[in-house]
Amino acid sequence: MRLFLDTAHIEEIREINRWGVLSGVTTNPTLVAKTHADVERVWKEILTEVDGDVSLETTEPEADAMYEQGLTLAAMGENAVVKVPMTPDGLRAGKRLVEDGIRINVTLVFSPAQAILAAEIGAYIVSPFIGRIDDAAADGMHALRQICEIYDVQGYETEVLAASLRHPMHVVEAALAGADIATMPYDVFTKLVKHPLTDKGLEAFNKDWENLQGELRGRPSDTQEGA
Ligand code: E4P
Repeated sequence: MRLFLDTAHIEEIREINRWGVLSGVTTNPTLVAKTHADVERVWKEILTEVDGDVSLETTEPEADAMYEQGLTLAAMGENAVVKVPMTPDGLRAGKRLVEDGIRINVTLVFSPAQAILAAEIGAYIVSPFIGRIDDAAADGMHALRQICEIYDVQGYETEVLAASLRHPMHVVEAALAGADIATMPYDVFTKLVKHPLTDKGLEAFNKDWENLQGELRGRPSDTQEGA
């Protein structure tokens, strides 16, 4: 499962990129708005920083304008993936973009029925929003498992991107469900690496190591050599 960051914050992207585990980035209008910076500059910086896929979202509601906007976004970089919403206009524009050879990510997907539509237009990625399904008192992970199973049974090649993930167990469960990609905010990404027993274990190793160094320093040098 590829790991993506769900952010438009370049410093967060740079930090996780340094870990060597970042395969892509997803952005949306809300995330870009949080940067309070020039949109094109933000997108370009991200496209340059990340080797993998970077999803840039269309904002035009009507199919023709959305298609034109999609062409512009796709031209911003070889790793650009154009996000279209799961609406009739999004499907129409998305299908035209796919026919032009552009990789699209169908976003705002909340049900297996919608995921079938995304696959049928040949989307590169479908993004079910797990956390937001949970927010609506339904089972986001169940929907994700159904989507993965349907894609498997039907042989759809569209990649399933588990989105709106809120905590590390969402990531683990998405991997178990067979998601191709998981995208998550910076705070969830940084929690993946954390475990109290890792911290405790490292503290003990460091302490024992320092004690040994102290012990060796206190010994006559010939004993050190013989040890
Ligand atoms: C995915 O592409 C979306 O940007 C994102 O995962 C939405 O997550 P949220 O529900 O935390 O806003």
